[in-house]
Amino acid sequence: MVRPKVVIARHLREEVMRLFDRPDLDVVAWPSETEACDRNWLLNNIAGATGVLVMLTDKVNAELLDAAGPTLCVVSTMSVGYEHVDVQLLARRNVKLGYTPDVLTDAVADISVMLALMAGRNVRSTTNIVQNGDWPNYPWSPFGFCGPQLSTNWIHSTRTMGFIGFGRIAQATLKRLVPFGFTHCLYASNPSSLPNPTRDAEVAQKYGLREVRRVALDELARESDVVFVLAPGGPELYHIVNEQFLKQMKKTAVLVNTARGTLVDSEALAKALREGWLWGAGVDVVEGEPKVAADHPLVKEPRCVVLPHIGSATTETRLGMATTAAKNLIAGVLNEPMPVELKM
Ligand code: DGY
Repeated sequence: MVRPKVVIARHLREEVMRLFDRPDLDVVAWPSETEACDRNWLLNNIAGATGVLVMLTDKVNAELLDAAGPTLCVVSTMSVGYEHVDVQLLARRNVKLGYTPDVLTDAVADISVMLALMAGRNVRSTTNIVQNGDWPNYPWSPFGFCGPQLSTNWIHSTRTMGFIGFGRIAQATLKRLVPFGFTHCLYASNPSSLPNPTRDAEVAQKYGLREVRRVALDELARESDVVFVLAPGGPELYHIVNEQFLKQMKKTAVLVNTARGTLVDSEALAKALREGWLWGAGVDVVEGEPKVAADHPLVKEPRCVVLPHIGSATTETRLGMATTAAKNLIAGVLNEPMPVELKM
């Protein structure tokens, strides 16, 4: 019997790799967990494969599908995002796509709130002061290092959260902001989906918010105290946060991007921060990552906290993602229902 060949583009810890110890699969795996899979290795080894497990750093395009040939029927990505995958091409070639939503929702929502707090409270510039041994030059002073307060307070009895994209992670972030006293939630989402005021009212009631409302981007920018970018990315949403959007934000607002770097125009954001159009920004993703050097416009901005795409980086979450990706691949190649398949 010919065993289906599966290619795994990263070593995924023993407890996950063990799932592939099966007599019915021919497994070819890139040996390193930390070193990215070499593209040529992948192109050579994928020939004749039935399934491939990739990371968000591996482009799934015509080059890869052609190298695999007509046997390929499943791509499993260890990510919720699939900007690196040519989904339309997969659909045309009848190749299924498995991905890993849900399991990372809480980890990314946690870090989204963390970035909102860090960006507002000057954490980047102040930790630098301490690390550089400069604290003695900055004794406590009444208004030293003050930034806008995320939670409601004696001056601001209302707080508005804004979301670009209102899926699972956005709603988990919303839930975390309720104890901060947030009162309003505005969101912008896919224009091709119908507005759903009934669902919005239910969400508002569930979390004790005065309002949950879908709005146009301009209103979202104008009214929000914090804007979370949590949309899927892709060409239609390229630079959805641009000069026009940033110019309309409140001067005390912060912007958080934990989705995809391509959603935010980095040059425009750096300019906006420099010129004080908004207060601060926290980004876990940057267009062109990981080629983001110390002289990158956002890295140079003291009011911008930049993280190296660690939103889902808790041990529990990454193990969950790797396990789901492995199970998606195995089920897909054996022609069984995949635990989480993207409907294309
Ligand atoms: C994903 O899974 O798409 C995330 O960006 C990983 O952190």
